Parts: sequence; structure tokens; C-alpha cells
Amino acid sequence: MRLAMIGSGYVGLVSGACLADFGHTVVCIDKDGDKIERLNRGEIPIYEPGLDELVTRNTREGRLSFSTDLAAGVADADAVFIAVGTPSRRGDGQADLSYVYAAAEEIGAALRRFTVVVTKSTVPVGTGDEVERIIRSVRPEADFAVASNPEFLREGAAISDFKRPDRIVIGVEDERARAVMSEIYRPLFLNAAPILFTGRRTAELTKYAANAFLAMKITFINEMADLCEAVGADVQEVAKGIGLDNRIGSKFLHAGPGYGGSCFPKDTRALVETARQYDARTRIIEAVVNINEERKGAMAGKVLRVCGGSLEGKTIAVLGLTFKPNTDDMREAPSLSLIAQLRRYGANIRAFDPVGMEQAAPLLDGVVFAKDPYDCATQADALVIVTEWDAFRALDLGRLGGLMKSRVLVDLRNIYRPDEAARHGFRYEGVGRPRARS
Ligand SMILES: NC(=O)c1ccc[n+]([C@@H]2O[C@H](COP(=O)([O-])OP(=O)(O)OC[C@H]3O[C@@H](n4cnc5c(N)ncnc54)[C@H](O)[C@@H]3O)[C@@H](O)[C@H]2O)c1
Repeated sequence: MRLAMIGSGYVGLVSGACLADFGHTVVCIDKDGDKIERLNRGEIPIYEPGLDELVTRNTREGRLSFSTDLAAGVADADAVFIAVGTPSRRGDGQADLSYVYAAAEEIGAALRRFTVVVTKSTVPVGTGDEVERIIRSVRPEADFAVASNPEFLREGAAISDFKRPDRIVIGVEDERARAVMSEIYRPLFLNAAPILFTGRRTAELTKYAANAFLAMKITFINEMADLCEAVGADVQEVAKGIGLDNRIGSKFLHAGPGYGGSCFPKDTRALVETARQYDARTRIIEAVVNINEERKGAMAGKVLRVCGGSLEGKTIAVLGLTFKPNTDDMREAPSLSLIAQLRRYGANIRAFDPVGMEQAAPLLDGVVFAKDPYDCATQADALVIVTEWDAFRALDLGRLGGLMKSRVLVDLRNIYRPDEAARHGFRYEGVGRPRARS
């Protein structure tokens, strides 16, 4: 099949490269000329493990190309995927669909033969109808069908998620579109990946429901963590104790500083707004959004408390800036609000992240970037672990402590054992764990 991917970001680039790897001919299009130029030079604009090799091989073998020319890419495509951003709209939390609609207009003008236009971006219920209306208004005579194919990949594991998905959801209202979508994903049929054909609106809502459920699971365990702290229980063990129940499952039960990233915050907000619009409120998700927002402030308060109630003039070392490990994505990363709040408390910030510092630098004023975790900790009054990169899991606590002004470790990801930290003389504070005295 000949495919065009509109938008070559985290989702478009990974999906385009994986679909090329299945044997399709894919052109990844972006209006960001700089991004396309870099891709054409063989540079990968994002950090995603394995993507470099996949892109290089498929480009070399002639199945994958990059362009800013949407019209040319769309003209001879069997299917055109829309994978542009749908950020939160400023002010009201609804999904900003301006990029999707702009892409739809351009696609409409470029259609030449029967083409399936597939929304891969996460979009509110009814967006497929609007995409169809826009294309129809631009080109009343065009032969096309609009499908919804939400993407469930996770940054950091995006390639294996795309190639070995738990499921593929495809919303279609048209038999021809169903046939084209089946052909595109045929290599995965062979792998026995469950493919769920639904109506278009159902597919659109399924994506939000999935993200909202996962955000709720994280928020649930975060509240349990607060309760554990209050009553002297250990949230790690509570999570294990409930997660072994198959009806609950152990994933997404890691207490921490609150969810962030490019999807959960904006998608939970957008679902809440959609539900309000249709007068069918999702009160659980409303609570999730509010609790997660409050949690950000609470984490800075934890650092303040462990440091004796004042951070004025103190140096706080922050390990991990990206919203999770194995990505350079800084969108709504918990580190951003944490650092801003610590600075308001008067702290000086030193920070280190294995891959995210280039993306983080423009977002973080007045932060000193270190060259490794030990450099980061030097002369610090406290060390705060914000992102659980593997590189932070086995630090030499003795050496770290020796470099610091005082041995205080705030472990927002619970990657160290309180007794181990205490053995090295640290005052340790995790999330939802009993405190060990130094
Ligand atoms: N990032 C994830 O982990 C993830 C996972 C699943 C779903 N999604 C969803 O996928 C969508 C894309 O997310 P992303 O993280 O890849 O975003 P992104 O910001 O990394 O990429 C979007 C790209 O689209 C380009 N673009 C915008 N308008 C365009 C146009 N008219 N023509 C051509 N290119 C255009 C932008 O320049 C940008 O490069 C969002 O709806 C998101 O919610 C993201």
C-alpha cells in the first residue's frame, strides 16, 4: 500500500517507520521544514530507542521518505494518516483541533482517487465527522472515506508497542475503508494481534477511555501512597498485594509525583470537557484531573519539609527531567512544576537528565545543568529523584553522600530502599513508605 503520514512527530514518525517496515511505501510529511531536512540527512529529531536503525534501514531500502509536500504525498496514497498534535486548548482544556482541521483541508485539496483518510491523532468524539465535512466542503466530488485508528504506543517502547500491540482499534463507517485498513494491518493479523473494528465514534472514545483509566489507576495508587504515609504502611507492598489480583493487574500501580507527559494530562482534561459538553459528566475523571494537579504542589512541599521547612538559598539537585525514562519528551513533565515551585521557595537548582537536557533547557530558567548525577549532587543540600532512568537505579550512595552538603534523598519514584539509604547516612523520603531514620 502507498501511505502518507501527515505529522512526523513521536507518533507519525514511529508509525510511518513501522508501517514501512511491514512493507508498505510510506512518505512522512511535516510542515516543519527543519524537521524534514534533518530526517532527510539521516538525523532523528526525537529520542526513541531503536528508531534510528528502523528509519535508516527503511529509507535505504526505498520504502520510507520524508517531505514537506503534502499534496504530492497525498495524491497517490491509498491511505492518508493524520498524526498531528492535539494539545490542550488554552483556557478551557478541550483538545485543540486546529492542526487536524488544517490538515483535513489540505488533504481534501490534494485527493486524486479513492483514499482513506485515517485519524491517528487522539481526537474527541465526532472529529471524524468534522474531518469528513471539511474534506467534502473543499472537494464535493472527492472519493474518500474517513476512518479512526487511535494510537496506543508508549514513548520509550514505541516500536515494540506498534509492532506487537495489545490491540488495534479501527473505527470505520464504510466497507471500502475497512478493506484498506485490513490490508494495512495484515502483517499484524498474521501475528494474531487482536483487531477491533468499531464505529468511528466508538474508536475515538475508546482511546480517551483507555488513557483516562490508566491515569485513574496512577492517581488511585498515589492517593493510597498518601494514606500509607499517614498510617505508617508501605504503598509498594500494597501495590503488590492488590496488583497480583488478576482483576486489578500490577501495571500502572507505581506511586510517584503524579502523571505527566504528552497524553494523560491533556486527554483527561479533554474527556472531562467532552463529557460536560454532552451533559454526561465523568466525575471520576474530573477528580483525577484535580488530584493530579494538586499533587504537583505537594511534591515540592515534601522536599521543603524534609529540608527542615526552608529552602531559602539551599541547593537542590534534581535527577531526571523528562516525564518518564527513555524519552526526551518534556511535555507536562512533573519536573517542570516541581522545579518552578522549589525556585519559588528560594532554592537553587542543579539538574541532570541522561537525554532530556536539550529539550528541558528552554523550559527551565535559572537551572544549572550538570554533566552526570555525581556532578549534580555536588554541594547539594538535598537530592530529588524525579524520573526513574535506569542510570539512576544503582548510584554509589556513599560517593554521592560524600559530595553533598547534607545527606538528604527525596526519592519520588521509590527506586531506593529506605534502609539502604539510611545505611549510607541519608535522611530518606520516598512516596508512601515508612520513614527510616538516619
Ligand atoms: N506521543 C505519544 O506518546 C502519543 C501516543 C498516542 C497518541 N498520541 C497522539 O498522537 C498525536 C500526535 O502526537 P505527537 O506526540 O506525535 O505530536 P508531535 O507534536 O510530536 O508531532 C506532531 C507533528 O505534526 C506536525 N504538523 C502539525 N500540523 C501539520 C500539518 N498541517 N501538516 C503537516 N504536519 C503538521 C508538527 O510539525 C509536528 O511535527 C496527538 O493527538 C497525540 O495525542 C501521542
